[in-house]
Parts: sequence; C-alpha cells; structure tokens
Amino acid sequence: MDTGLNYNYKIVRQFTIATVVWGVIGMLMGVIIAAQLAWPALNFDTPWLTYGRLRPLHTNAVIFAFGICGLFATSYYVVQRTCQVRLFSDKLSAFTFWGWQAVLVAATISLPMGFTRGKEYAELEWPIAILITVVWVAYAVVFFGTLLKRKVKHIYVANWFFGAYILAVAVLHVVNGMAIPVSAMKSYSVYSGVQDAMIQWWYGHNAVGFILTAGYLGMVYYFIPKQAERPVYSYRLSIVHFWALIFTYMWAGPHHLHYTALPDWTQSIGMVFSLILLAPSWGGMINGIMTLSGAWHKLRSDPILKFLIVSLSFYGMATFEGPMMSIKTINSLSHYTDWGIAHVHAGALGWVGFITMGSIYYLVPRLAGKTSMHSTRLIDLHFWVATIGIVLYIASMWIAGVMQGLMWRAVNPDGTLTYTFVEGVKATFPYYVIRFGGGLLYLSGMLIMAYNTWMTMRDTVSVDARIPALNPIHA
Ligand code: HEM
Ligand code: HEM
Repeated sequence: MDTGLNYNYKIVRQFTIATVVWGVIGMLMGVIIAAQLAWPALNFDTPWLTYGRLRPLHTNAVIFAFGICGLFATSYYVVQRTCQVRLFSDKLSAFTFWGWQAVLVAATISLPMGFTRGKEYAELEWPIAILITVVWVAYAVVFFGTLLKRKVKHIYVANWFFGAYILAVAVLHVVNGMAIPVSAMKSYSVYSGVQDAMIQWWYGHNAVGFILTAGYLGMVYYFIPKQAERPVYSYRLSIVHFWALIFTYMWAGPHHLHYTALPDWTQSIGMVFSLILLAPSWGGMINGIMTLSGAWHKLRSDPILKFLIVSLSFYGMATFEGPMMSIKTINSLSHYTDWGIAHVHAGALGWVGFITMGSIYYLVPRLAGKTSMHSTRLIDLHFWVATIGIVLYIASMWIAGVMQGLMWRAVNPDGTLTYTFVEGVKATFPYYVIRFGGGLLYLSGMLIMAYNTWMTMRDTVSVDARIPALNPIHA
C-alpha cells in the first residue's frame, strides 16, 4: 500500500505557491496595460512604464510564470501519482524550480528595461533563453526519468499530454531561438525576412498548441475524473484526441500570416489544418465534459468542479472561433483588431486560467495536509467574480474588434476612407473601459484565491506522510 512517503510533494507545493503569486503579478500587469490603452497618460512618460515594455511583461508573466509554474506543479504531481513512484531526482527537480524562478525574475527586470528579441512570446534575450534551455532539459530528464522508473505498466493519458508539451516546447524554443549574439543583451535571429516570420509563427502557434493547450489537457485528464470521482468518459477517445491534436497543430502556424509575403499555398495549408483542428479539439472537450455523466448534480455544490468544467466550455468556444478566424476572408476582418484579443482571452482567462485554478484548488488542501480549502464559499465567490470579469472582457473586445474592422474597411463612393484611424480609436474607448473593469474583476478573483491559499497553507503540516491519510480520494 502506498503511504505517500515516497512522493516529492515539496516541489509540487513550491510550484503551486509560485503559480498563485505569479498569477497575481501577471494579471496585475494585464490590468495596468488595459488601463493604459484607455488612458495613455498612465505611462507617466517613464520609459519602463510604457505600454510597449509592460505588454511583453504581461504575456511572459501570465504564460511563462503563472501558466508554466501551474504546469510544473500539476505534471510533477500527476506523474508521481499515476506512475506510483517518487520523482526521478529531487535535486534536479529543485533545480528546475529555482532555475525557472531565475528565468522569471530575469524577465521581470530585463523586459521593462527594454531588452527584447522582438519576437512575440520569445522576447527574452539570449542569456535568459539559454538558461530556459538548461532548465527545460532538466525538466525533461525529471519527467521522462520518472516515467521510465514507473511501477505501473500503463502510461496514463495525462502523461502523454504533459510529455508532448515538454518535448514540443524544447524543439520550438531551440529552433525559433537560433540567434547570433552581438553583445551581452542583444542578439539577431539567424533567419531573415519571411523565413523568420514563418519560423516565429510556427513557434507562436505551437506555443498555443502545446503550452496553452496540450499541457492543460494533461490537467483535464487527471483532475476532472478525480474531482468528479468518475472515470474518463472514453479512454479510447482520449488516445485518438491526443494523436490527432498533436499531428494537426504543427501545421496551422501560417494562419497568423494571412495576406503577407508568405507564399499563398502555405497560408492555405495553415487555414485547412486550422479547420481540421476543430475536430480533435471538440473531441477532447466533449470527452472532458461527458466525464461528468451521472455526476452533473455535483456542479451545484462543488465550485472546484465548476472551474474545471466551465474551462472546457471556454476551450470549446476558443477552438471554434480560432478555425473561423483562420478562414482568410474572416481573418481579413479580424486581424489587427481587438477581435484577436477577445479570442486570446477567451482561451487565456476562460480555458487556461480556469483549468489551472480548478487544479490548484484541488492540490492546495492536499499539499497542506487538509481535507479542504480554508473556505469553499470563497472559491465560489472567486468563480463568479472571474466569470463576470471574463464575460465583460471578451464581449467588449468582440464588439470593439468587429467595429474596428468594419470602420477600417468602410469606403466612400469616391474611394476615400469613410473614417480616419483616430475616429476608430475614439469609438473604441468605452470598450477599453469595460475591458479594464472585466480585468479588474478577474484580478480580484485571483487575489481571493491567494488569500484562500495562504489561509489553507499557512500551518501546513510538515510531514508529507499525513497527506494521503487525510485525503481518501487519493489514487
Ligand atoms: C486580469 C486579467 C488580464 C487582463 C486585464 C489582460 C489584459 C491584456 C491586454 C490589455 C493585452 C494587450 C491587448 C492589445 O494588444 O490590444 C493583453 C494581451 C495578451 N494577454 Fe492578457 N490580460 C489578462 C490575463 C491574461 C492571462 C491569464 C493570459 C494567459 C494565460 C493572457 C494572455 C495574453 C496574451 C497571449 C496576450 C497577447 C495577445 C496578442 O498579441 O494577440 N492574459 N492582455
Ligand atoms: C482550434 C484551435 C485554434 C485555432 C485554429 C486558432 C486560430 C487562431 C487564429 C486564426 C488567430 C488569429 C491570427 C491572426 O489573425 O493574427 C489566433 C490567435 C491567437 N490564438 Fe488561437 N486558435 C485556436 C485556439 C486557441 C486557444 C485554445 C488559445 C489559448 C489561449 C489560443 C490563443 C491564441 C493567441 C494567444 C493568439 C494571438 C497570437 C498573436 O497574434 O499574438 N488559440 N488563433
């Protein structure tokens, strides 16, 4: 009988706390830049407070800090529980924690200072990019090493998704990161022109596919069945889902480069694969939601399950909208507008944010040796505050986006533009204010979570061995 003594919970606890802390920081940055878009004077004419520097800080903090710390925590937990062995190496896993925090601190300092490679989601300059590679190799060794020494023959499907995310990120980061350093904090990409753009968006889109999607699907396949106390709806579908998803994602990148110098046929391939992607995405969503069959009533009383299930409905929404936006004629309206921002945040706040929050709420009491979070009512409050925040954010950006697209393309009978650009900016102002309000609500939810986590964890029992005994649901 497994006593839990053999598991390394310390590392999971560290990454769990880091997820919450970075979540607050990253979302605060989001709220600040949302405010700056409505009231530009908020940069106070200070270079390091300008939108251009804080925006990449926001994206890096939410994706690489909040998002990836959440993936570290859950993948380390899940791989141990489902393989029934301790992590491959405690020292190496501790290195991944401190190494990754060093990356994040370096990002927090260097981005406001203006150091950037100028590639979206790959801004960090070469010394930091090299540190990322080293930490990532250590992560791969710990994760796959643990899989190799597993005590169960079968590799549970959640680990397939986590494994694919770890491998794909390694390949993407190294290929897109190829650069020639010219000074301590400046480098230039080895690729040029349209090849550079193609590599960048192959990277960018697969960052969506493998970080913001595959990694979180790993959470879906472990935490939803656990919290619902039901087996995965269809294990066979989960395997088909896995292979179809990872094969298809790799080809869809060119949909970010419609109507550019990229050869037309390449753009069409991107579009076709994006349309195909709807099928595996929805297959996975349905598999996750149907896992609740026979347990729907739990949604009424269990706010953790609400986070987990509602995240899947946002996933379904984003993966329906994405293929539509990849159709060239639709993209000609949506590209450059806030419609894209609405799509991103339906995925980011609704899917990535909610699935992470649900999984972290599952983990925190277990890691603290408690039977539940400090306050279940606060989890519920978090859920509702955040949901209203998302609705305000994405609805305002959808309206703003379609409006901008239509205003920009409107022409008078004599061929001149009906609206000047500044008229479009003025018309967008109220929507930026609403988005700011939505962001503020979402951030408030995160603060509620931080308080609840602190109250649950502050007197954590020091002996990890007590954890399984206190938690009968443990695998
Ligand atoms: C309080 C919550 C948040 C607020 C207020 C917020 C606000 C913003 C704003 C104002 C932008 C710039 C939009 C523009 O360029 O017009 C942005 C961009 C972005 N945010 Fe957020 N954000 C929040 C949370 C998140 C989270 C949790 C994630 C990811 C997990 C995320 C991912 C992104 C990404 C990827 C972009 C770049 C989108 C693009 O270039 O198309 N955000 N966010
Ligand atoms: C079937 C799945 C999906 C497809 C086919 C898809 C497609 C698209 C398309 C066509 C764009 C606009 C490109 C442009 O006009 O520049 C886009 C942007 C984006 N999508 Fe999706 N999407 C999908 C799912 C998701 C999900 C689940 C997320 C999770 C957060 C996400 C995050 C993003 C981000 C961050 C961007 C902005 C990239 C940038 O310009 O910086 N997408 N997506």
